[in-house]
Amino acid sequence: MTEYVTLFAADELEEGGMRRVMAGGEPLVIVRQDGEWFALADRCSHETSRLSEGYLEGGMICCALHGAAFDLRSGEALRPPAYEGIAVHALRIEGGMVQVAIEEENDRG
Ligand code: FES
Repeated sequence: MTEYVTLFAADELEEGGMRRVMAGGEPLVIVRQDGEWFALADRCSHETSRLSEGYLEGGMICCALHGAAFDLRSGEALRPPAYEGIAVHALRIEGGMVQVAIEEENDRG
């Protein structure tokens, strides 16, 4: 089941900025770029560095440690040394608040 979790007021994150948050027990990086918003796993698939400590380049988020780059829309790995993509989450702005979609695990009884 998908549920939206409210994170913070949209005007708290400036254009071109990014912020690390915890949602559904997972670290995510929220990105605001060119009027669009993105939510991705805040964990580089190379050596688990925080992407929120990296930088933005075009439509990519880049790891500060060894320079791997991931597509902001798809999470696809676009530059070595990462070859595995990262998870992306749906994001919406509701009533001026940033909300991100989290997959709820089904009850296992
Ligand atoms: S930890 Fe991200 S590129 Fe190596």
